[in-house]
Amino acid sequence: MSIPAIEIQGVSKAFRRREREAGAPWWRRDWKDKVALHELDLIVQPGGVTGILGPNGSGKSTLIRILGTLLTPDTGTARVFGWDVVKEALQVRRHVNRVSVEAAFFKELSPWENMVYAARLYGSAGSGTRRRVVEILELLGLPLDVIDQPMKQLSRGQQQKVAIARSFLTAPSLLLMDEPTTGLDPRSKKEVQTVLETLRAEREITVLVCTHDMNEAEALCERVLMMDGGRVLADGRPAELCRIHGGATLEGVFMHLTGKTLEAEEPEEVAP
Ligand SMILES: Nc1ncnc2c1ncn2[C@@H]1O[C@H](COP(=O)(O)OP(=O)(O)O)[C@@H](O)[C@H]1O
Ligand SMILES: [Mg+2]
Repeated sequence: MSIPAIEIQGVSKAFRRREREAGAPWWRRDWKDKVALHELDLIVQPGGVTGILGPNGSGKSTLIRILGTLLTPDTGTARVFGWDVVKEALQVRRHVNRVSVEAAFFKELSPWENMVYAARLYGSAGSGTRRRVVEILELLGLPLDVIDQPMKQLSRGQQQKVAIARSFLTAPSLLLMDEPTTGLDPRSKKEVQTVLETLRAEREITVLVCTHDMNEAEALCERVLMMDGGRVLADGRPAELCRIHGGATLEGVFMHLTGKTLEAEEPEEVAP
């Protein structure tokens, strides 16, 4: 039995924030705990793409951030290839890479410069780096003339592609993708998915991808976890989930389990 890529036991995370009770006067806001993850258990074996599906606010990014050592759990333990995300955070960081919708770049620098910076940071820059960068960007369908232009001149979709290319450059063992194709047009989405499949075929990599795009989950993921309100409601192969929960599609399964669509937002208290 190999060491799991991800092993989470009883992980909870809550955020304290000021909220107004329904019906309370507008000035009255009390501190409240918002539970983002509720005693989560999860084991993911190495290799393969596991998807996390859930509406906004269901705890997907919190889970990704904990695995990426950006947040610490309130209770429970989380391990990546056996390393504890709190006590052995440095080891975890060496094996993990994260792509998120709000990717951070040096906006005045070009994609090429940003990628070299990342490669150096992770100690993987070498003579083959430029060729590798060009190769990945080509796969992503990014016009090669943008590779030396400042990031700030690129479209959102192009920036997102560079973020994905960058995460592959550093050869992580566990790739955490937080809505990597949100905001991309259908064609760019397809290109990103193709790249993911190509790169996966080349190397041993475990991918955890959050999405609320059903088609993407069906196309990419061997296994899907459905989350709502910080809990996992269903876990299995897409076809298996459809069969067990009686839905023609994953969207149908989610509807069946929660009575709502994945596009729906968690109700949030809005300040007046
Ligand atoms: N830094 C934070 N401070 C306060 N509340 C937060 C913070 N991060 C997340 N939350 C809350 O935790 C819940 C889960 O958020 P998140 O993990 O971002 O969900 P998702 O990625 O599925 O949209 C939401 O209700 C969100 O508002
Ligand atoms: Mg999120």
